[in-house]
Amino acid sequence: MAIQSVRGMPDILPEQAGAWRYLEQQAQQIFDAYGLTQIRTPMVEDTALFARSIGDVTDIVEKEMYTFEDRSGDSLTLRPELTAGVVRAAIENGLLHNQTQRLWYQGPAFRHERPQKGRYRQFHQIGVECFGIADARMDAELIEITDQLWKQLGIRHAVGLELNSIGSPEARAHYRAALVDFLSSRKDQLDEDSQSRLDRSPLRILDSKIDSTQALLVDAPSLMDSLTKEDREHFTALTSSLEEAGIEFKINPRLVRGLDYYGRTVFEWTTQKLGAQGTICGGGRYDGLVEHLGGRSTPGVGFALGMERVVLLMESLDVVPDMYQNQANIYLMPQQSECESVIRELARTLRTHFPKLRVLTHIGGGSLKSQLKKADKSGAAIGLIIGHTELESGHIVYKPLRGGEQEMLTEAALINRISELKDA
Ligand code: HAM
Repeated sequence: MAIQSVRGMPDILPEQAGAWRYLEQQAQQIFDAYGLTQIRTPMVEDTALFARSIGDVTDIVEKEMYTFEDRSGDSLTLRPELTAGVVRAAIENGLLHNQTQRLWYQGPAFRHERPQKGRYRQFHQIGVECFGIADARMDAELIEITDQLWKQLGIRHAVGLELNSIGSPEARAHYRAALVDFLSSRKDQLDEDSQSRLDRSPLRILDSKIDSTQALLVDAPSLMDSLTKEDREHFTALTSSLEEAGIEFKINPRLVRGLDYYGRTVFEWTTQKLGAQGTICGGGRYDGLVEHLGGRSTPGVGFALGMERVVLLMESLDVVPDMYQNQANIYLMPQQSECESVIRELARTLRTHFPKLRVLTHIGGGSLKSQLKKADKSGAAIGLIIGHTELESGHIVYKPLRGGEQEMLTEAALINRISELKDA
Protein backbone atom coordinates (compact mmCIF):
# COMPACT_ATOMS: atom_id res chain seq x y z
CA MET A 1 0.00 0.00 0.00
CA ALA A 2 1.22 3.51 -0.80
CA ILE A 3 2.40 5.57 2.13
CA GLN A 4 0.08 8.41 3.09
CA SER A 5 0.62 11.80 4.69
CA VAL A 6 0.44 12.04 8.46
CA ARG A 7 -3.08 12.69 9.76
CA GLY A 8 -3.70 16.42 10.18
CA MET A 9 -0.65 17.35 8.10
CA PRO A 10 -2.04 18.02 4.63
CA ASP A 11 -0.13 18.87 1.48
CA ILE A 12 -0.58 22.29 -0.04
CA LEU A 13 -1.24 21.45 -3.67
CA PRO A 14 -0.47 23.58 -6.74
CA GLU A 15 -4.07 24.74 -7.06
CA GLN A 16 -3.97 26.15 -3.52
CA ALA A 17 -0.39 27.37 -3.52
CA GLY A 18 -1.27 30.55 -5.45
CA ALA A 19 -3.51 31.74 -2.62
CA TRP A 20 -0.73 31.04 -0.14
CA ARG A 21 1.74 33.03 -2.19
CA TYR A 22 -0.70 35.89 -2.50
CA LEU A 23 -1.17 35.98 1.27
CA GLU A 24 2.59 35.82 1.89
CA GLN A 25 3.34 38.57 -0.59
CA GLN A 26 0.66 40.91 0.70
CA ALA A 27 1.78 40.37 4.30
CA GLN A 28 5.43 40.99 3.46
CA GLN A 29 4.58 44.16 1.59
CA ILE A 30 2.69 45.53 4.57
CA PHE A 31 5.41 44.48 7.02
CA ASP A 32 7.97 46.32 4.91
CA ALA A 33 5.75 49.40 4.84
CA TYR A 34 5.63 49.37 8.65
CA GLY A 35 9.40 48.98 8.94
CA LEU A 36 9.46 45.46 10.39
CA THR A 37 12.40 43.10 9.89
CA GLN A 38 12.23 39.35 9.51
CA ILE A 39 13.47 36.67 11.88
CA ARG A 40 13.67 32.94 11.18
CA THR A 41 14.00 30.57 14.11
CA PRO A 42 14.30 26.75 14.20
CA MET A 43 11.29 24.48 14.13
CA VAL A 44 12.57 22.50 17.08
CA GLU A 45 13.35 23.91 20.51
CA ASP A 46 14.21 22.68 23.97
CA THR A 47 10.96 21.37 25.50
CA ALA A 48 11.47 23.49 28.61
CA LEU A 49 11.12 26.68 26.53
CA PHE A 50 7.46 25.99 25.80
CA ALA A 51 6.57 24.69 29.24
CA ARG A 52 8.04 27.85 30.76
CA SER A 53 6.53 30.38 28.35
CA ILE A 54 3.16 29.03 27.21
CA GLY A 55 2.53 27.55 30.68
CA ASP A 56 2.52 24.09 32.24
CA VAL A 57 -1.23 23.87 32.66
CA THR A 58 -2.30 25.03 29.21
CA ASP A 59 -3.91 22.66 26.68
CA ILE A 60 -0.98 23.20 24.34
CA VAL A 61 1.68 22.06 26.81
CA GLU A 62 -0.38 19.42 28.58
CA LYS A 63 -1.92 17.69 25.57
CA GLU A 64 -0.79 18.97 22.21
CA MET A 65 2.98 19.09 21.90
CA TYR A 66 5.08 16.83 19.69
CA THR A 67 7.82 16.06 22.18
CA PHE A 68 10.58 13.52 21.65
CA GLU A 69 13.97 12.55 22.89
CA ASP A 70 16.72 12.93 20.30
CA ARG A 71 19.70 10.61 19.98
CA SER A 72 21.61 12.56 22.62
CA GLY A 73 18.78 12.06 25.10
CA ASP A 74 17.66 15.72 25.04
CA SER A 75 13.94 16.46 25.25
CA LEU A 76 13.00 18.46 22.16
CA THR A 77 9.65 19.74 20.92
CA LEU A 78 8.31 20.74 17.49
CA ARG A 79 7.27 24.34 18.07
CA PRO A 80 3.53 24.66 18.80
CA GLU A 81 3.78 28.43 18.10
CA LEU A 82 6.56 30.85 17.23
CA THR A 83 6.55 33.53 19.94
CA ALA A 84 8.55 31.50 22.48
CA GLY A 85 11.33 30.76 19.97
CA VAL A 86 11.49 34.39 18.84
CA VAL A 87 11.83 35.57 22.44
CA ARG A 88 14.51 32.97 23.09
CA ALA A 89 16.41 34.02 19.96
CA ALA A 90 16.12 37.72 20.82
CA ILE A 91 17.57 37.14 24.30
CA GLU A 92 20.24 34.72 23.16
CA ASN A 93 21.51 36.99 20.38
CA GLY A 94 21.45 40.23 22.32
CA LEU A 95 18.73 41.80 20.16
CA LEU A 96 17.14 43.44 23.17
CA HIS A 97 20.05 45.40 24.59
CA ASN A 98 19.04 49.06 24.66
CA GLN A 99 17.06 48.75 21.49
CA THR A 100 13.59 48.09 20.27
CA GLN A 101 12.78 45.35 17.78
CA ARG A 102 9.83 44.93 15.45
CA LEU A 103 10.11 41.46 13.97
CA TRP A 104 7.98 39.36 11.66
CA TYR A 105 8.12 35.67 10.91
CA GLN A 106 6.39 32.92 9.03
CA GLY A 107 6.48 29.16 9.20
CA PRO A 108 4.94 25.90 10.33
CA ALA A 109 3.83 25.03 13.86
CA PHE A 110 2.69 21.71 15.27
CA ARG A 111 -0.08 20.81 17.68
CA HIS A 112 -1.56 17.39 18.28
CA GLU A 113 -5.19 18.51 18.12
CA ARG A 114 -8.19 16.68 16.68
CA PRO A 115 -8.04 17.59 12.98
CA GLN A 116 -11.05 19.18 11.29
CA LYS A 117 -11.67 21.96 8.78
CA GLY A 118 -9.40 24.86 9.78
CA ARG A 119 -7.62 22.84 12.46
CA TYR A 120 -4.54 20.81 11.63
CA ARG A 121 -1.59 19.18 13.34
CA GLN A 122 0.88 20.96 11.14
CA PHE A 123 -0.34 24.46 10.38
CA HIS A 124 1.34 27.72 9.41
CA GLN A 125 1.51 31.08 11.05
CA ILE A 126 2.56 34.54 9.99
CA GLY A 127 3.24 36.75 12.97
CA VAL A 128 4.86 39.84 14.43
CA GLU A 129 6.60 40.41 17.76
CA CYS A 130 7.64 43.86 19.03
CA PHE A 131 10.04 44.33 21.92
CA GLY A 132 10.93 47.31 24.07
CA ILE A 133 7.75 49.38 23.66
CA ALA A 134 5.23 49.39 26.50
CA ASP A 135 3.04 52.13 25.01
CA ALA A 136 -0.45 51.00 23.96
CA ARG A 137 0.02 52.75 20.63
CA MET A 138 2.27 49.83 19.71
CA ASP A 139 -0.58 47.40 20.39
CA ALA A 140 -2.82 49.61 18.24
CA GLU A 141 -0.27 49.70 15.43
CA LEU A 142 -0.07 45.90 15.37
CA ILE A 143 -3.83 45.70 15.12
CA GLU A 144 -3.68 48.30 12.34
CA ILE A 145 -1.21 46.08 10.46
CA THR A 146 -3.65 43.17 10.57
CA ASP A 147 -6.53 45.46 9.60
CA GLN A 148 -4.50 46.65 6.59
CA LEU A 149 -3.74 43.08 5.61
CA TRP A 150 -7.41 42.04 5.66
CA LYS A 151 -8.25 45.11 3.54
CA GLN A 152 -5.49 44.36 1.10
CA LEU A 153 -6.68 40.77 0.75
CA GLY A 154 -10.32 41.79 0.32
CA ILE A 155 -11.58 39.90 3.39
CA ARG A 156 -12.02 42.82 5.79
CA HIS A 157 -15.83 42.79 5.52
CA ALA A 158 -15.92 39.18 6.72
CA VAL A 159 -13.90 39.58 9.93
CA GLY A 160 -14.36 41.35 13.25
CA LEU A 161 -12.01 42.39 16.02
CA GLU A 162 -12.51 41.38 19.66
CA LEU A 163 -10.49 43.02 22.36
CA ASN A 164 -9.94 42.70 26.09
CA SER A 165 -7.50 43.59 28.82
CA ILE A 166 -6.62 40.81 31.22
CA GLY A 167 -4.57 43.23 33.32
CA SER A 168 -1.27 42.93 35.08
CA PRO A 169 -0.28 39.80 37.04
CA GLU A 170 -1.42 41.39 40.34
CA ALA A 171 -4.83 42.26 38.92
CA ARG A 172 -5.17 38.75 37.55
CA ALA A 173 -4.22 37.12 40.84
CA HIS A 174 -6.84 39.24 42.56
CA TYR A 175 -9.45 38.37 39.95
CA ARG A 176 -8.53 34.71 39.94
CA ALA A 177 -9.28 34.49 43.66
CA ALA A 178 -12.62 36.26 43.22
CA LEU A 179 -13.61 34.00 40.32
CA VAL A 180 -12.63 30.79 42.10
CA ASP A 181 -14.57 31.96 45.13
CA PHE A 182 -17.66 32.61 42.98
CA LEU A 183 -17.46 29.36 41.00
CA SER A 184 -16.51 27.04 43.87
CA SER A 185 -19.94 27.40 45.43
CA ARG A 186 -21.48 26.53 42.02
CA LYS A 187 -19.03 23.82 41.03
CA ASP A 188 -21.70 21.16 40.49
CA GLN A 189 -23.33 23.37 37.84
CA LEU A 190 -20.11 23.65 35.80
CA ASP A 191 -19.38 21.39 32.83
CA GLU A 192 -16.77 18.70 33.37
CA ASP A 193 -13.95 20.49 31.58
CA SER A 194 -14.51 23.69 33.53
CA GLN A 195 -14.63 21.77 36.81
CA SER A 196 -11.17 20.43 36.16
CA ARG A 197 -9.98 23.92 35.23
CA LEU A 198 -11.26 25.45 38.43
CA ASP A 199 -8.12 24.65 40.40
CA ARG A 200 -5.59 24.76 37.60
CA SER A 201 -6.51 27.58 35.20
CA PRO A 202 -9.82 29.12 36.25
CA LEU A 203 -9.58 32.06 33.82
CA ARG A 204 -9.91 29.66 30.88
CA ILE A 205 -13.42 28.85 32.13
CA LEU A 206 -14.38 32.32 30.90
CA ASP A 207 -14.08 31.29 27.25
CA SER A 208 -15.82 27.94 27.70
CA LYS A 209 -18.01 27.10 24.71
CA ILE A 210 -20.64 25.39 26.92
CA ASP A 211 -23.90 27.36 27.15
CA SER A 212 -24.77 26.37 30.73
CA THR A 213 -21.32 27.48 31.90
CA GLN A 214 -21.66 30.77 30.05
CA ALA A 215 -25.07 31.27 31.68
CA LEU A 216 -23.49 30.74 35.08
CA LEU A 217 -20.82 33.32 34.30
CA VAL A 218 -23.32 36.10 33.69
CA ASP A 219 -23.30 36.96 37.39
CA ALA A 220 -19.60 36.22 37.93
CA PRO A 221 -17.27 39.05 38.97
CA SER A 222 -15.87 40.89 35.96
CA LEU A 223 -12.19 40.91 35.11
CA MET A 224 -12.46 44.57 34.09
CA ASP A 225 -13.37 45.45 37.68
CA SER A 226 -10.10 43.97 38.92
CA LEU A 227 -7.84 45.99 36.65
CA THR A 228 -5.40 48.44 38.26
CA LYS A 229 -5.49 52.13 37.38
CA GLU A 230 -2.46 51.66 35.07
CA ASP A 231 -4.09 48.69 33.36
CA ARG A 232 -7.19 50.75 32.69
CA GLU A 233 -5.20 53.68 31.36
CA HIS A 234 -3.31 51.35 29.04
CA PHE A 235 -6.53 49.87 27.74
CA THR A 236 -8.12 53.28 27.22
CA ALA A 237 -5.04 54.45 25.33
CA LEU A 238 -5.41 51.40 23.09
CA THR A 239 -9.10 51.88 22.39
CA SER A 240 -8.62 55.61 21.66
CA SER A 241 -5.78 54.84 19.25
CA LEU A 242 -7.99 52.33 17.45
CA GLU A 243 -10.82 54.84 17.25
CA GLU A 244 -8.41 57.42 15.85
CA ALA A 245 -7.33 54.94 13.20
CA GLY A 246 -10.97 54.18 12.39
CA ILE A 247 -10.71 50.52 13.36
CA GLU A 248 -13.92 49.07 14.76
CA PHE A 249 -13.70 46.67 17.68
CA LYS A 250 -15.87 44.87 20.17
CA ILE A 251 -14.77 44.59 23.77
CA ASN A 252 -15.23 40.99 24.87
CA PRO A 253 -14.72 40.76 28.65
CA ARG A 254 -14.58 36.97 28.38
CA LEU A 255 -11.65 36.88 25.96
CA VAL A 256 -8.66 35.39 27.81
CA ARG A 257 -6.70 33.35 25.19
CA GLY A 258 -5.06 29.99 25.76
CA LEU A 259 -1.45 30.92 26.47
CA ASP A 260 -0.20 31.99 29.90
CA TYR A 261 2.25 34.68 28.87
CA TYR A 262 -0.28 37.41 28.17
CA GLY A 263 -0.92 40.45 30.32
CA ARG A 264 -3.07 43.51 29.57
CA THR A 265 -4.03 43.57 25.87
CA VAL A 266 -5.44 40.45 24.24
CA PHE A 267 -7.22 40.41 20.88
CA GLU A 268 -8.62 38.10 18.24
CA TRP A 269 -9.91 38.50 14.71
CA THR A 270 -12.78 36.13 14.02
CA THR A 271 -15.10 35.24 11.16
CA GLN A 272 -18.47 33.51 10.98
CA LYS A 273 -17.61 31.97 7.63
CA LEU A 274 -15.40 29.09 8.75
CA GLY A 275 -17.60 27.29 11.25
CA ALA A 276 -16.04 26.27 14.56
CA GLN A 277 -12.50 27.37 13.67
CA GLY A 278 -13.36 31.02 13.12
CA THR A 279 -10.38 32.65 14.82
CA ILE A 280 -8.02 33.66 12.03
CA CYS A 281 -5.60 35.68 14.16
CA GLY A 282 -4.78 36.17 17.84
CA GLY A 283 -2.34 38.18 19.86
CA GLY A 284 -1.61 40.34 22.81
CA ARG A 285 0.89 41.87 25.17
CA TYR A 286 3.40 39.87 27.17
CA ASP A 287 5.49 42.32 29.20
CA GLY A 288 6.74 39.65 31.63
CA LEU A 289 7.85 36.98 29.16
CA VAL A 290 11.37 38.16 28.30
CA GLU A 291 12.33 38.35 31.96
CA HIS A 292 10.59 35.05 32.67
CA LEU A 293 12.78 33.41 30.02
CA GLY A 294 15.96 34.82 31.51
CA GLY A 295 16.34 38.15 29.71
CA ARG A 296 16.34 41.66 31.10
CA SER A 297 12.81 42.94 31.76
CA THR A 298 11.50 44.05 28.32
CA PRO A 299 7.92 44.69 27.24
CA GLY A 300 6.60 42.71 24.30
CA VAL A 301 3.49 42.52 22.16
CA GLY A 302 2.60 40.51 19.08
CA PHE A 303 0.15 38.45 17.07
CA ALA A 304 0.01 35.46 14.78
CA LEU A 305 -2.45 34.59 12.05
CA GLY A 306 -3.28 31.07 10.96
CA MET A 307 -2.49 30.87 7.25
CA GLU A 308 -4.75 27.86 6.57
CA ARG A 309 -7.73 29.73 8.01
CA VAL A 310 -6.99 32.97 6.16
CA VAL A 311 -6.58 31.02 2.90
CA LEU A 312 -9.86 29.16 3.51
CA LEU A 313 -11.57 32.50 4.04
CA MET A 314 -9.98 34.00 0.92
CA GLU A 315 -11.12 31.01 -1.12
CA SER A 316 -14.65 31.11 0.26
CA LEU A 317 -14.87 34.81 -0.68
CA ASP A 318 -13.22 34.18 -4.04
CA VAL A 319 -10.73 37.04 -3.66
CA VAL A 320 -7.55 35.40 -4.97
CA PRO A 321 -6.55 37.27 -8.17
CA ASP A 322 -6.40 35.15 -11.33
CA MET A 323 -2.70 35.75 -11.78
CA TYR A 324 -2.07 33.80 -8.56
CA GLN A 325 -4.24 30.93 -9.70
CA ASN A 326 -2.95 30.54 -13.22
CA GLN A 327 0.10 28.83 -14.46
CA ALA A 328 0.56 31.23 -17.36
CA ASN A 329 -0.30 34.65 -18.78
CA ILE A 330 1.09 33.92 -22.22
CA TYR A 331 1.28 30.53 -23.96
CA LEU A 332 3.53 30.13 -27.00
CA MET A 333 2.75 27.48 -29.62
CA PRO A 334 5.25 26.42 -32.32
CA GLN A 335 3.41 24.74 -35.20
CA GLN A 336 6.31 22.86 -36.77
CA SER A 337 9.66 21.73 -35.49
CA GLU A 338 11.35 24.50 -37.58
CA CYS A 339 9.54 27.07 -35.45
CA GLU A 340 10.74 25.68 -32.12
CA SER A 341 13.93 27.70 -31.74
CA VAL A 342 12.29 30.95 -32.91
CA ILE A 343 9.46 30.55 -30.45
CA ARG A 344 11.79 29.81 -27.55
CA GLU A 345 13.88 32.88 -28.44
CA LEU A 346 10.68 34.96 -28.48
CA ALA A 347 9.77 33.57 -25.05
CA ARG A 348 13.16 34.65 -23.68
CA THR A 349 12.67 38.14 -25.09
CA LEU A 350 9.22 38.40 -23.50
CA ARG A 351 10.48 37.18 -20.11
CA THR A 352 13.20 39.85 -20.16
CA HIS A 353 10.73 42.58 -21.15
CA PHE A 354 7.97 41.50 -18.78
CA PRO A 355 9.49 39.91 -15.67
CA LYS A 356 6.09 39.83 -13.93
CA LEU A 357 4.39 37.75 -16.61
CA ARG A 358 4.35 33.97 -16.69
CA VAL A 359 5.45 32.88 -20.12
CA LEU A 360 4.96 29.23 -20.93
CA THR A 361 6.19 27.54 -24.11
CA HIS A 362 4.40 24.52 -25.48
CA ILE A 363 6.71 21.51 -25.64
CA GLY A 364 5.90 18.24 -27.35
CA GLY A 365 4.26 19.14 -30.69
CA GLY A 366 0.73 18.03 -31.53
CA SER A 367 -2.02 19.67 -33.55
CA LEU A 368 -2.92 23.35 -33.17
CA LYS A 369 -6.20 22.24 -31.63
CA SER A 370 -4.53 20.19 -28.93
CA GLN A 371 -2.04 22.99 -28.24
CA LEU A 372 -4.86 25.50 -27.89
CA LYS A 373 -6.54 23.19 -25.40
CA LYS A 374 -3.41 23.18 -23.27
CA ALA A 375 -3.10 26.97 -23.63
CA ASP A 376 -6.64 27.32 -22.36
CA LYS A 377 -6.00 25.05 -19.40
CA SER A 378 -2.91 27.04 -18.41
CA GLY A 379 -5.13 30.03 -17.70
CA ALA A 380 -3.20 32.21 -20.17
CA ALA A 381 -5.00 35.23 -21.57
CA ILE A 382 -2.85 35.34 -24.69
CA GLY A 383 -1.73 32.64 -27.12
CA LEU A 384 1.13 33.27 -29.53
CA ILE A 385 1.44 31.05 -32.58
CA ILE A 386 4.24 30.72 -35.09
CA GLY A 387 3.93 28.44 -38.10
CA HIS A 388 5.53 28.31 -41.56
CA THR A 389 3.75 31.42 -42.83
CA GLU A 390 4.74 33.51 -39.82
CA LEU A 391 8.29 32.19 -39.91
CA GLU A 392 8.61 33.41 -43.49
CA SER A 393 6.93 36.79 -43.01
CA GLY A 394 8.54 37.47 -39.61
CA HIS A 395 5.19 37.83 -37.89
CA ILE A 396 3.53 36.28 -34.88
CA VAL A 397 -0.11 35.30 -34.50
CA TYR A 398 -1.52 37.07 -31.44
CA LYS A 399 -4.57 35.17 -30.25
CA PRO A 400 -6.57 36.43 -27.28
CA LEU A 401 -7.78 33.26 -25.56
CA ARG A 402 -10.60 34.83 -23.53
CA GLY A 403 -12.42 36.60 -26.37
CA GLY A 404 -11.16 39.11 -28.96
CA GLU A 405 -9.84 39.21 -32.50
CA GLN A 406 -6.76 37.35 -33.66
CA GLU A 407 -4.03 39.54 -35.23
CA MET A 408 -0.72 39.25 -37.06
CA LEU A 409 1.95 41.33 -35.36
CA THR A 410 5.63 42.07 -35.71
CA GLU A 411 7.75 41.46 -32.61
CA ALA A 412 7.89 45.21 -31.85
CA ALA A 413 4.12 45.55 -32.19
CA LEU A 414 3.63 42.47 -30.04
CA ILE A 415 5.72 43.92 -27.22
CA ASN A 416 3.66 47.11 -27.40
CA ARG A 417 0.45 45.15 -27.26
CA ILE A 418 1.56 43.05 -24.27
CA SER A 419 2.67 46.09 -22.30
CA GLU A 420 -1.00 47.14 -22.36
CA LEU A 421 -2.04 44.00 -20.42
CA LYS A 422 -3.07 44.72 -16.83
CA ASP A 423 -0.71 42.20 -15.26
CA ALA A 424 2.38 43.24 -17.25
P1 HAM B 1 -2.74 31.12 18.97
O1 HAM B 1 -4.05 31.78 19.22
O2 HAM B 1 -2.47 29.86 19.66
O3 HAM B 1 -1.65 32.20 19.34
O4 HAM B 1 -2.56 30.89 17.42
C1 HAM B 1 -2.68 31.95 16.49
C2 HAM B 1 -3.50 31.54 15.29
O5 HAM B 1 -2.95 30.35 14.71
C3 HAM B 1 -4.93 31.15 15.62
O6 HAM B 1 -5.75 32.29 15.70
C4 HAM B 1 -5.29 30.28 14.44
O7 HAM B 1 -5.68 31.07 13.35
C5 HAM B 1 -3.99 29.59 14.13
N1 HAM B 1 -3.98 28.22 14.68
C6 HAM B 1 -3.73 27.83 15.94
N2 HAM B 1 -3.82 26.49 16.06
C7 HAM B 1 -4.14 26.01 14.84
C8 HAM B 1 -4.37 24.70 14.30
N3 HAM B 1 -4.26 23.61 15.03
N4 HAM B 1 -4.68 24.60 12.98
C9 HAM B 1 -4.78 25.71 12.21
N5 HAM B 1 -4.57 26.95 12.65
C10 HAM B 1 -4.26 27.11 13.95
C11 HAM B 1 -0.31 32.01 19.20
O8 HAM B 1 0.18 31.06 18.65
C12 HAM B 1 0.52 33.15 19.73
N6 HAM B 1 1.93 32.81 19.57
C13 HAM B 1 0.18 34.44 19.01
C14 HAM B 1 0.99 35.58 19.50
C15 HAM B 1 2.10 36.11 18.91
N7 HAM B 1 0.78 36.28 20.61
C16 HAM B 1 1.71 37.19 20.75
N8 HAM B 1 2.52 37.09 19.73
